[in-house]
Amino acid sequence: MLPFPLFIFIFFTTLFPSPLAVADLTTCSGIVPMKYRNDKISIADFGGIGDGRTLNTRAFRAAIYRIQHLRRRGGTLLYIPPGVYLTETFNLTSHMTLYLAKGAVIKAVQDSSNWPVIAPLPSYGRGRERPGGRYISLIHGDGVHDVVITGENGTIDGQGDAWWNMWRTGTLKYTRPSLVEFVNSYNIIISNVMFLNSPFWNIHPVYCRNVVVRYVTILAPRDSPNTDGVDPDSSNNVCIEDSYISTGDDLVAVKSGWDEYGIAYGRCSYDITIRRISGSSPFAGVAVGSEASGGVANVLAEHLNFYDMGVGINIKTNIGRGGFIKNITVSNVYMENSRKGLKIAGDAGDHPDDKFDPNALPIVKDITIKNIWGVNVQQAGSIYGLRDSPFTGICLSNINLRGATRPRSVPWTCSYVSGAASLVSPWPCSELTSTDQDGLCSDNF
Ligand SMILES: *[C@@H]1O[C@H](CO)[C@@H](O)[C@H](O)[C@H]1NC(C)=O
Ligand SMILES: *[C@@H]1O[C@H](CO)[C@@H](O)[C@H](O)[C@H]1NC(C)=O
Ligand SMILES: *[C@@H]1O[C@H](CO)[C@@H](O)[C@H](O)[C@H]1NC(C)=O
Repeated sequence: MLPFPLFIFIFFTTLFPSPLAVADLTTCSGIVPMKYRNDKISIADFGGIGDGRTLNTRAFRAAIYRIQHLRRRGGTLLYIPPGVYLTETFNLTSHMTLYLAKGAVIKAVQDSSNWPVIAPLPSYGRGRERPGGRYISLIHGDGVHDVVITGENGTIDGQGDAWWNMWRTGTLKYTRPSLVEFVNSYNIIISNVMFLNSPFWNIHPVYCRNVVVRYVTILAPRDSPNTDGVDPDSSNNVCIEDSYISTGDDLVAVKSGWDEYGIAYGRCSYDITIRRISGSSPFAGVAVGSEASGGVANVLAEHLNFYDMGVGINIKTNIGRGGFIKNITVSNVYMENSRKGLKIAGDAGDHPDDKFDPNALPIVKDITIKNIWGVNVQQAGSIYGLRDSPFTGICLSNINLRGATRPRSVPWTCSYVSGAASLVSPWPCSELTSTDQDGLCSDNF
């Protein structure tokens, strides 16, 4: 039992991290220059009608064709006035801003029969949920740069219902579409937009660099399948901050390809910042993996608030994944009502096919989890490394994950893990060496 004054000290420093940290207003701005566009056009000039019934696919495609081919100096802003614009999929081009006015809604058609199918991502070898190609995202950018999606908190509505039902009844032909996907792109900003009812993952930057996602709201029902919030995938310099995300799957999940395809493609996700995110999910708040075959490094996730969670922080991989997950720091997290606080697991997720290499073992090391406060957390944590590739350098400090009143929370469970723990309650497994040297973990880097 801690002496009373020390307990109070820990209580307050944990609940109200340091005043310095609270005042720290580090932001993503500066990673990608925000562009002012002199040239402005409106979807209405291209026949767009926001009555919720008229199909606007041609208007979107014509407006973006105009931006792409007229190439005005400094790029062009495409204004979407208030109204509901029903549309099929469309592709973005470089040097453009898609601007949704207050009350503007870009709404996906529900009929998937004409939905275009594109090639699988090389780092996945197939669609994530069905073999072969995959449905293109509603809004797609391939090989573009200097693209902004912003406005006055207008909505991009995926009308995911029909897709979720196809998933539930096993009638999907191909992998469901994301709401917004960027492939091989850089200098992307997504801000001040609401994402609603995505058929699948919401925002998916893959093979990208310099991507900022901020001031977004992402909503999907708790029982909607695979509606991840933001999934940086084989991408670097990605910054996600100041957003509310509440969906049916992981709120933010850092990935880098799947088993032998991800290993062969070999593109790591690194320099990822996740900051000031709140929301709830039956799965994880912050996840790394389980598709991490290209490697994931240098992730900083801080100042997070999670409610009604499956798992607060989840690092997940598997035999056959290969790759590495290293230098991950998660700090200053408050969670309330969670099945589990922290989970690091080497047996997560499925395989693309039976050609995965059982000798391709992932390396998981240098994971720092600190300043975590949880209330009504059923199990504080579990860490299951791999017998032939134990997880190392797992550092836990200043963690207090309390169960419901009684019975108290389920004890930690661990295997094949080494590292250190300091000021962790309930006390974690004996595999982690106890240390009373606060800050020991952070000093490793
Ligand atoms: C949109 O981009 C995808 C991927 O680059 C491409 O396959 C498709 O043909 C494009 N669609 C249109 C309408 O240009
Ligand atoms: C949009 O929402 C953000 C919070 O996410 C808020 O700060 C901003 O003022 C809103 N903008 C408008 C134009 O309503
Ligand atoms: C670890 O990641 C942090 C970002 O969280 C970065 O600032 C630091 O340089 C990385 N350390 C190493 C050794 O790469």
